[in-house]
Amino acid sequence: MTSPEKTRLLFVCLGNICRSPTAENVTRHLLQARTGPVSAATVLCDSAGTSGYHVGAPPDRRMRQAAQRRGLSLTGRSRQFEVADFEQFDWILAMDRSNQRDILAVAPSGQYRDRVRLMCEFCRQYPDTDVPDPYYGGADGFDYVFDLLTDACGGFLDFLDREIS
Ligand code: 4NP
Repeated sequence: MTSPEKTRLLFVCLGNICRSPTAENVTRHLLQARTGPVSAATVLCDSAGTSGYHVGAPPDRRMRQAAQRRGLSLTGRSRQFEVADFEQFDWILAMDRSNQRDILAVAPSGQYRDRVRLMCEFCRQYPDTDVPDPYYGGADGFDYVFDLLTDACGGFLDFLDREIS
């Protein structure tokens, strides 16, 4: 018997060192606690940046500290989003509207538009429409991003559950 294809998620921000690696690691963590059609066995997560500013860098130290305060270690190395990602991933979650614009600007045709979504569409508790960029702000901005992403990523997995079932 062949196993069904896994659902592949790509989280995208500008630098791939703050928001999108957090979304990737938070989602992986949430998946580990889930059973049923949407779980660590059926969903794969990755992240990328629209810019190449930090290629090869680990997640930002301040973002790692915020995650650590919530008990999560962030792993990964920054890479730049590439056109081939449209083929490789089922869902592309943009952290803000400028990331979404930049992703769609390099889409080879209209066929991929539907798989590019805004992360905040899936918030259940937070009113934000964009995940705020914490890079030039203080520590509480990183804490806020972590908590917002925990809400949005959980909401996205519930959405996926409804899509798949
Ligand atoms: P991220 O945050 O897009 O959430 O990874 C940023 C990281 C770096 C820069 C801006 C935002 N930067 O300008 O270098």
